[in-house]
Amino acid sequence: MNRRYRKTIIAGNWKMNKTLSEMKAYAEEIHSIMPKGKWCETVLCVPFVNIPSAVRLFKDCHISVGAQNCHYEKSGAYTGEVTAEMLKEVGVKYVILGHSERRQYYNETDFTVNKKVHAVLEAGLQPIICVGESLEQREAATTMEIITYQVKAALAGVPSDKMRRVIIAYEPLWAIGTGRTATAEQAGEVCEGIRAVIRKLYGARIARAVTIQYGGSMNAKNAHELLAQPDVDGGLIGGAALKPADFTAIVQAANQE
Ligand code: PGA
Repeated sequence: MNRRYRKTIIAGNWKMNKTLSEMKAYAEEIHSIMPKGKWCETVLCVPFVNIPSAVRLFKDCHISVGAQNCHYEKSGAYTGEVTAEMLKEVGVKYVILGHSERRQYYNETDFTVNKKVHAVLEAGLQPIICVGESLEQREAATTMEIITYQVKAALAGVPSDKMRRVIIAYEPLWAIGTGRTATAEQAGEVCEGIRAVIRKLYGARIARAVTIQYGGSMNAKNAHELLAQPDVDGGLIGGAALKPADFTAIVQAANQE
């Protein structure tokens, strides 16, 4: 992390977990244990239907609410979809885009991710753009090539003045939900590489200010080491965000670093 230049953001990605009543119980529990006077921004990205309640329930403990996806059009005949503007109106601040599960199961491509990035920025929200290589790609030593392509494609056409709202999450596919975390060095190296790509596109001043998260089996035990890397500015957390004690321990680690 480097707090002098950029915001530290710890974001939980609940995926398709927790009913409204389960979320209420979580909110009650986290309320009493959430670290006070924190440095880092804390976010929970919950399922669409629970967003309005989440905004209300988590307000007191200064947790912002995010969504896990959105459509790129402003309105229209897209059954089952939700626009960025709709999310904004119910109090969403962040939107995860291009998560590997969406790329894998719902045909999300670099092209659609880019269109969604534009829609989210236009609505005044902050996209959390996920990029990451597969195990085969890492073993073939093509990690940085893949990541560079994904970052460039996601940011195509995004003007400099909107870059201060962009967040990138480096999530190696082989580390998501597997309990196998990237080493701090691996995470640090790729996050540094992502910043170098942004530097080439937008210049040093903007690159220095972009928050780059690591995601993939981040937990209370490994958070300190990962966050100690100068270019790792936070985490996108799946499994460990489902339990208040585990999630707050990561927030605590981000506050201490
Ligand atoms: P994980 O998920 O922490 O359970 O590995 C991370 C993510 O998918 O964002």
